[in-house]
Amino acid sequence: MNKSNVDQINASYTKEYCHQLELAYGNNMMSEGGAEAIDQMFKNVALNHKKVLDFGSGLGGVAFYLASKHQAQVAGVEINPEMIDGALSKRPDNIKDLVDFQLIKGDQKLPFPDQSFDVVYSRGVIVHLPDSQREKTFQEFHRVLKKGGRLVIFDWLSPKKGQWSPEMQDLIETESLPLYAHTPQSYIKDLQRHGFSDVKFSDLSENHTKYNQDVVDRLSSKDIKNTFIKAYGETTYTEHLNGYKDIRDCNKTGKGISAHFLAVKQ
Ligand SMILES: C[S@@+](CC[C@H](N)C(=O)[O-])C[C@H]1O[C@@H](n2cnc3c(N)ncnc32)[C@H](O)[C@@H]1O
Repeated sequence: MNKSNVDQINASYTKEYCHQLELAYGNNMMSEGGAEAIDQMFKNVALNHKKVLDFGSGLGGVAFYLASKHQAQVAGVEINPEMIDGALSKRPDNIKDLVDFQLIKGDQKLPFPDQSFDVVYSRGVIVHLPDSQREKTFQEFHRVLKKGGRLVIFDWLSPKKGQWSPEMQDLIETESLPLYAHTPQSYIKDLQRHGFSDVKFSDLSENHTKYNQDVVDRLSSKDIKNTFIKAYGETTYTEHLNGYKDIRDCNKTGKGISAHFLAVKQ
């Protein structure tokens, strides 16, 4: 990834923006669906006491959940120093020895030896990567996974490669986040090309229609609404609320695809 892409992403995920995401999704979470969505993501994946990599770990919410529920030993990597500080400082005491987070530069290899992990996962991150970085990332996922290890990805996709719907395009411009449009078919081929087998795709758009409706309900509740408006003003609040309604509607109509991939390193 060239530096400007990392800078652009880090400039978008400010402390304020992350707090706004937490108001929408819950503490330490930067993607929708909470515990239900995480359980769905790891359905049929053995996690008990496994060594796990979280690529793009954000504020650590997913890692905390997996460590608490499955005693998984989770290593998170991130390009954003504020996320690393936030995740490290919020580590719950009872799982402090199980979760760790480290900063990566975005163009470097993952800082782990070959075949280090039983499971590699990434939630809502790959969509930010331009092609060259995405290719290197899949190569690295393959390298650091043990033989027989599982790759688990949740990502936001489009029905048309290289093109978002006008509604999604508006959102991208409002939030000035780089998002690259891949289709389920191209994604499957990309994973196979990098040596993954048994690649399984599931369309979770129906579940995510509900999760985004839950976010709309949560943001509309009196306490969260007041907290949001007090901190960021009515205009920003309305922009966020409408953004989640648009994501919900894109999921509902197939203009945006909430995608789950499960693959094996043979
Ligand atoms: C939508 S957030 C998801 C965070 C977390 N996975 C979650 O679900 O709560 C996307 C995250 O990807 C991170 N990210 C973007 N590009 C990255 C890269 N090249 N390497 C590592 N992390 C990256 C961002 O800093 C951000 O924290």
